[in-house]
Parts: sequence; structure tokens; C-alpha cells
Amino acid sequence: MGQIVINKDLAKAISDFQLPENLGFGNVMAPVMASCSYENGKWGPLELLPYGPITMYPTAKVLHYAQEIFEGMKAYRVNGKGPFIFRPEENHLRFNRSAERMAMPHVPYNIFMQAVLDVTAYSSNFVPRRTGESLYLRPFMFASEESLGIKPAEKFKFMVIASPSGSYFSGAGLSVYIERENARAFPGGTGFAKTGGNYAAGLAAAITTKNLGFVQTLWLDAVHKKYIEEMSGMNVFVVINNELHTSTLGDTILDGITRKSLITLAQDLGYKVVERKIDVDEMLADIKSGKCTEAFACGTAAIITPINYFGEANGDRYPLHYPDGKVSTILREKLLAIQEGREQDPYKWVT
Ligand code: COI
Repeated sequence: MGQIVINKDLAKAISDFQLPENLGFGNVMAPVMASCSYENGKWGPLELLPYGPITMYPTAKVLHYAQEIFEGMKAYRVNGKGPFIFRPEENHLRFNRSAERMAMPHVPYNIFMQAVLDVTAYSSNFVPRRTGESLYLRPFMFASEESLGIKPAEKFKFMVIASPSGSYFSGAGLSVYIERENARAFPGGTGFAKTGGNYAAGLAAAITTKNLGFVQTLWLDAVHKKYIEEMSGMNVFVVINNELHTSTLGDTILDGITRKSLITLAQDLGYKVVERKIDVDEMLADIKSGKCTEAFACGTAAIITPINYFGEANGDRYPLHYPDGKVSTILREKLLAIQEGREQDPYKWVT
């Protein structure tokens, strides 16, 4: 591992910190953060600092040209065991795939892991202990170079912050709006990268979604406006004839680590899993005919959240037969038991 610099005020920030009872998601921040700068073609020392504001010039390229990427991962300490981190190598690999797409340098494995493990270790007393709760870890990197020229930056900052969090969604069962006009991503674009712009592109639709009384937006492919892609921040599965169907990955869909893990878990539990292009109208017909009995969202933040119904702007609603999840409840419990260290991990996913 490289050099680590520990800020002298960190111990006080940690001893002063009190974990509130009501956490929500991403609202409460752990008192420690990690930071590492890239300049002249190399990474500097990793610093551990008290969580707090950072300074940058108004010309920092990230503020103008959105050269930025991030990851989402979790540390678990249910019943005081752990902390356990789920498949961090996968996050590191995906981070660097996003970095390549956004013309940013790779963050070396040692720096990424040291930052994640140190922030977790220093926050260890603030990892919530109830099942379904965790310390949400947010590694991110942005272009800090000060200049308005449109060209790839040469100065970057990599940071890790952490948030003791409860569940991402309040209340069970999602209502999902089928977005038939706007698109989130397009072939050859950045849809597969975990970069802020992909999420910003979905925010206008999030307003429509909310105004129409839904909780989440379902994105269709930009070319045909026909095939299901993802939900900005989570992948989608549907259960048809007791088989799990999910959209084939490509350059417009995020390669979810929860998605990937569920495919393995479901197959090992004896379910058939089909990765294919899912025509949204066929799926709605299958819901109406009773062939498609349930659907759910999955992601690091969302874990597995069942979908109550899909709906359209014209008021049509397509309620799922199992709005609280049936297969998804089995998969959620299995996944969480492994992530939280309550069950033996035959896959060696947990660090
Ligand atoms: C995650 O699940 O980690 C995400 O990044 C989704 C969202 C909070 C942006």
C-alpha cells in the first residue's frame, strides 16, 4: 500500500459523532472521508480526513463538463458482526470501466481498496446493526483541473465518503411509470458508466413520474422505445412462468453487481434465468394474462424491492399478482443473509 496521511482532527470528529436513530438513505454522513489527488500522471498519498466541505475553483472542469464517476457499495454489521463488504473488487473493476469511458485515469486497486477499507474501519462504530441497514460507501472521482477549455482534464480527485443508511425506499412496493418519450441512454453513449450525467438526464422524467403519482421511472431503449432497460440506479427483473427475466446488458445499461449476484443465486436455487430484450408491451400483456406474476428492482441501494404496479401517462395501470414479491422475497433474504454474514458465503463474495 502507498503512503497514508491521517489528519490530526480526525480522532475528535469520530469521538464527537453521534449516530441518529432515524437514518433514511444518504442523509447522515460518517465523520471520516478519504481523499487522493492525481496530478502529473500520478496519484499522490491517500489522506483520511474528518468529513466536511471541500474547496475547488469555479473553473474546476467537473462543474462545467461533468467529468465525474462514482460507485455505490455497502458495509454490513448486523448483530455486531463484521464489518463485511460485498464484492468490492467488482466495484473497483466497474469504477475503472467508467473511468475509461469518461477519459479519466484508472484508480489503482490498492488506493481504491485502502480508501474503502479505512473509511469503513474508522466508521465501524457507526455501521447500523439492524438487518437491511448498512454503511453506504460512495467512492467517486472528479476532474478538479481549473480551466474552461473542453479537453480531458489532467488533475483529478478520488474520494470515499460514507453514510450510515436505512432502506432506500420508504414503504413497500414500487409504482413504476413507463417513460415512453425521454431516453436515459443511447447506443455508443455513456449509459453503462456510473457517471453523474446519466442520472441528471433522468431527473426531468423523475418530476413527471412524481407528478403522475409514481415512485420510479422505467426507461426504454432510445432507438425503438420498446425494450426495457433499467430504472436509473437499479436494474429490473420480471418473473414470467416462474422464470426470472432481465434485460440483456449492453452499452446503455449499468452492469449491476446486485443483478449479477442475483443471477447466480437464483440459478443455484433452481430458477431458470433468462437474459433477453424484454418488449415492454409484451410484458404488460403478460401481466394482464397472469403469466408475469411479479417484478422487482435491484441495486446496491435498493437491494431488492418488489414492484407493485407499472403504469402509463394515460392512467392505465398494470398491477402485479404478487405486489409484495414472492420469488423476490426468497432472493432478498438469501442475498441479505450472505451480505450481512448471517449465512455461510459459498461464493466468497464477502470481504
Ligand atoms: C447504488 O445502488 O449504489 C446506486 O448508485 C443507486 C443510486 C443511489 C444512485
